[in-house]
Amino acid sequence: MELNEKDLAADLPEEETARQYHYIEKARKLVQAMGEAAGRPMTFYVETFGCQMNARDSEKLRGILLAMGYVQGETEKADFVVYNTCTVRENANKRVYGRLGKLKRLKKENPHMRIALCGCMTQEPQVVERLEKSYRFVDLIFGTHNIFRFAQLVCQMLEADDQVVEVWEGTDQIVEDLPAQRKYPFRSGVNIMFGCDNFCSYCIVPYVRGRERSRSPEAIIEEIRRLVDDGVVEVMLLGQNVNSYGKTLAQSVSFAQLLARIEKIPGLRRIRFMTSHPKDLSDELIAVMASSDKICRHLHLPVQSGSTRILEKMHRRYTKESYLSLTEKIKAAIPDIALTTDIIVGFPGETEEDFQHTLDVVRQVRYSSAFTFQYSKRSGTPAAAMADQVPADVVQDRFDRLLETVQAIARQECARWEGTTGQVLVEQVDRQDDRLLTGRLGNNLLVHFPGDLSLIGRIVDVHLTACRGFYYMGEMI
Ligand code: SAH
Ligand code: SF4
Ligand code: F3S
Repeated sequence: MELNEKDLAADLPEEETARQYHYIEKARKLVQAMGEAAGRPMTFYVETFGCQMNARDSEKLRGILLAMGYVQGETEKADFVVYNTCTVRENANKRVYGRLGKLKRLKKENPHMRIALCGCMTQEPQVVERLEKSYRFVDLIFGTHNIFRFAQLVCQMLEADDQVVEVWEGTDQIVEDLPAQRKYPFRSGVNIMFGCDNFCSYCIVPYVRGRERSRSPEAIIEEIRRLVDDGVVEVMLLGQNVNSYGKTLAQSVSFAQLLARIEKIPGLRRIRFMTSHPKDLSDELIAVMASSDKICRHLHLPVQSGSTRILEKMHRRYTKESYLSLTEKIKAAIPDIALTTDIIVGFPGETEEDFQHTLDVVRQVRYSSAFTFQYSKRSGTPAAAMADQVPADVVQDRFDRLLETVQAIARQECARWEGTTGQVLVEQVDRQDDRLLTGRLGNNLLVHFPGDLSLIGRIVDVHLTACRGFYYMGEMI
């Protein structure tokens, strides 16, 4: 073992990407040997618990595991299970602990099995403490900042007898060009920035994802060009607050300018992005969207609350009025835009009157869909220390009323397009009826229509015959 490490050190590349490829090669040999010993290929299973950024990280983990010679498994009955966790709400953590219990039983049945935990949860010291103490069967624990070292950590894990833990407090490194797998060959997420500097008072993300940093426009465009060469027609640009893109770069570039450059990439058909923070959404961005052929007519614009008083306590840095005038401006410039949002009910100190302002915003903006959340106390955030936490039954009651309002409006918004023709990116065979295909309109609505497999990945014109609540039945034309 010592000799091995010396050999490795001798020809270990200094540049980080090359280093990680070196470890991928090393792991390949280890995985191959394990497969030979077991008499079958070694399988892996990666599960994502969090947001789109978390999902993109999982694609990178899968890409690396495939490069190591692991074969993708369908279930947790695999030789290497990775949980990529989320800690944005208490429930997310509970789910992971529950599922780990199940993995422990599976591990008893499979001597080859290894378990890794990564993502936002593991950035919290109390979580790592608990894992080190009571979850010794977890073989590898790492965080969000050192995820690019996955290949190296897997090698360490495969050679170690004990739990391997490596969690960094932060990083300013952005490591480019590591492998990534995609769920669909025709669509890909693309990180344009990492971290968040907004510190909304309820939110754990800035603590577990670190400071905001943007990738260079050149690196982003180069990645998208390569994806397009590989068959991608739609990209989803990812960041916690894409509207502040570029602020950390030496040569300042705005998000709107980045979009205008991405628009010019030949072969790319659709551009999506998330998430937009209302406080930073510029007129320049609205203008670029309005004149674009490729940017989808969908904007996710989390409002969180409709009460200016609560927004202030949330540290969102906009008011009910400024949010409403922003959405009016967007709708005037782009009449066919679908607006979606995130809403939290039961933030500390929220009164019935505050909640009525939230309902009022929902009614005025008319969201096509909304993710609604009950406020969850995240220790370490300023809101967790606020005195007047709202009782659970009050929160539940408001939540139910909010959902009812949101859904009634979303149904009406969905029905707006009945009888029109829309461009649909075909995703897959319909899960319920294999004579049908399922695809997505630019505004993110799903459409089911008759058609054959060969259309998957293509953008086709579909007549939207009948609206069924939140989706459409259609006919290709
Ligand atoms: N960066 C994005 C949101 C990332 S987290 C933005 O600023 O909009 C996704 C959503 O989780 C948030 O929009 C918020 O609605 C919700 N959320 C975050 N912290 C929460 C908490 N403590 N309790 C309940 N919901 C929360
Ligand atoms: Fe959290 Fe606010 Fe950052 Fe979004 S912008 S990730 S809600 S701190
Ligand atoms: Fe969750 Fe981390 Fe995303 S906390 S919402 S997975 S950034």
